Amino acid sequence: RRRLVVDTDPGVDDAVALLYLVDQPEVEIVAVGTVHGNVPSATGADNALRILEAAGLPHVPVAVGANLPLNQEELLTGQFIHGENGLSGHTGPAPQGRPVAESAAEQLVRLARQHPGELSVLALGPLTNIALALLLEPRLPELVGEVVWMGGAIDVPGNVTAHADANTWHDAEAAELVLAAGFALTVVPLDVTAHAWVGSDWLDALANHSGPRAQFAHQVLAQYVHVYSQLMGGARGERGCLLHDPVAAVILLEPSLARYEEHQVVVELAGTRTRGATLVDRRGFHTPADPADARKPVRVAVAADMPAVLTRIQHAL
Ligand code: BDR
Ligand code: CA
Repeated sequence: RRRLVVDTDPGVDDAVALLYLVDQPEVEIVAVGTVHGNVPSATGADNALRILEAAGLPHVPVAVGANLPLNQEELLTGQFIHGENGLSGHTGPAPQGRPVAESAAEQLVRLARQHPGELSVLALGPLTNIALALLLEPRLPELVGEVVWMGGAIDVPGNVTAHADANTWHDAEAAELVLAAGFALTVVPLDVTAHAWVGSDWLDALANHSGPRAQFAHQVLAQYVHVYSQLMGGARGERGCLLHDPVAAVILLEPSLARYEEHQVVVELAGTRTRGATLVDRRGFHTPADPADARKPVRVAVAADMPAVLTRIQHAL
């Protein structure tokens, strides 16, 4: 079984991704780290403990990670869409455990050193913890087997600003550091996850299933579905929501469900309207004014077999 560290800001779709992962025979969740993003990182850690408790994995260590971006003083969260507590107001079972003493970045570095080349990292939030881990251990890209990150909006509009997706916008500097660091990195951007719309049929099947994972997911989806239906469903005349993070989890387990391109991805750090945009240079040539960037290309998912992906998630729940 592959050892998996999940770095996350739970967060409703993060919760669904964790619930999808807990019972997959190919991977063992060895640790969870939380990061600011949808909610403050301590709230996210409490949520992670509750999700793991509900899923029957109360022993998985949860480390609280960064509560601020690397270079933004203000903590910006996504509570209007994920609910004040990040789980649509649902709390689930009281967790037995507490977060561990080390930080999420320290935990990641320790595990990567213990299992060189073996660790899979699934990053479902801003990349602050991965960037901090990189500063603690510059060899991290060689020590970690692979990183899969849900983030970026390359050829599609963003979801926080016109150009930036939430996970890049919440910590643009961290995203830029990680994208340039040389990880074996797969990026699963909004270009793919904006197709992960689940509507009434999918949601009702979940609601009608009595299993603990289905019921927990059904509860935490409530406010998220409500807000998404108003924001996006209005145009489609439909109730539903986008399951961004679970798509990245499925792609980590079954890479053949997506199609990829290799690109150097850079993050716009300076733009007044475009800060947090993820940029790809498609020219195929460079000029003296704009010489080639030396960074290693990353693997960018550009399309996925979405009916199969959404069915995998539904069956796992
Ligand atoms: C990402 O932002 C968060 O709101 C979601 O949890 C997901 O990770 C989508 O842009
Ligand atoms: Ca997330």
